[in-house]
Amino acid sequence: MKEVEAVLKSGFIAQGPKVAEFEEKFAEYIGTKHAIATSSGTTALHVALLCTGIGKGDEVITTPFSFAATANTILYTGAKPVFVDIDPKTYNISPEKIKEAVTRKTKAIMPVHLYGQPADMGPINKIAEENNLKVIEDAAQAHGAIYKKINVGLWGDMACFSFYPTKNITTSEGGIITTNNNEFNHDARALRAHGESERYEHVILGYNFRMTDIAAAIGVVQLKRLDEFNAKRIENAEYLTEHINTIDGIEPPYVAENVKHVFHQYTIRVKNGKRDELREFLNNEGIGTGIHYPRPIYKQKLYEDLGFTANCVEAEKAASEVLSIPVNPALTVENLNEIVSVLEDASDRILS
Ligand SMILES: Cc1ncc(COP(=O)(O)O)c(C=O)c1O
Repeated sequence: MKEVEAVLKSGFIAQGPKVAEFEEKFAEYIGTKHAIATSSGTTALHVALLCTGIGKGDEVITTPFSFAATANTILYTGAKPVFVDIDPKTYNISPEKIKEAVTRKTKAIMPVHLYGQPADMGPINKIAEENNLKVIEDAAQAHGAIYKKINVGLWGDMACFSFYPTKNITTSEGGIITTNNNEFNHDARALRAHGESERYEHVILGYNFRMTDIAAAIGVVQLKRLDEFNAKRIENAEYLTEHINTIDGIEPPYVAENVKHVFHQYTIRVKNGKRDELREFLNNEGIGTGIHYPRPIYKQKLYEDLGFTANCVEAEKAASEVLSIPVNPALTVENLNEIVSVLEDASDRILS
């Protein structure tokens, strides 16, 4: 609050020195040369796609099991999202399915590090290299996640993070692009500010996707606490898994080898068609739940109306079985024990 007040008093309340400071600190945290702050995770993805020159007639391979923004940003550019199925254990895009979906029109792959668990970037980058494709990581849910000792945000040509309030750190609304590519850095800065090369010189069609110094001031403070927040999320997740993994009918989250999963969500799989019943039971006991996500993106009305179809059996199954339960860093041991005890209760009444 003090930092926000200082910004308000400084007179620089739109994009100014705080945004530059936040960009520098975020780039340093991830280990990239550049970080370009934007008004949201959505605008970060939109700008990143535009930097690669993707547009009408191009295809971008992505997962249907994500927030709509992932695919919507592809539509904004005029390109076509091509949805491929997920790995049923991690819920992340399946590299084998990507391979089968590559066509002459494919220009990029957009993997999502869902729930804070890195997508399988080794094989994904190999497919990209073999087919001359760009990789844009949707890291909206994965600040501080690591795949094979290398931070998420360093694997793709560009990566995009969101700072929406539910995320591992927030700026209220906000997003950021990380990249080591000087040209993408230059273009992204122009695209977020009406394509200006200098004040009132517009060289390309850009947008107003800028972050404010008010938001960046929150981000600078939050970033200092990211590792602490993530450590607490991981501790909470481990506690929950340890105590619920013997409950029949529930599958706790799977953590792949060689990754640091930062548990943006702690998502269980509820077997035997009991997900909605369990959700109601938890909600009646005062435990908040979420469904991330209730249907694959191609089954959203917008996408159906646009004629999208796909056959992603695992994504469809996951959409009917997943349930996110609380994992946020503010939870106490008492809160966690209450969640476990309500789940044990549900196990007797509903799940068995
Ligand atoms: C996977 C994913 N991609 C993109 C976004 C878009 O981010 P924002 O809400 O900041 O626009 C979000 C978050 O909401 C997300 O979860």
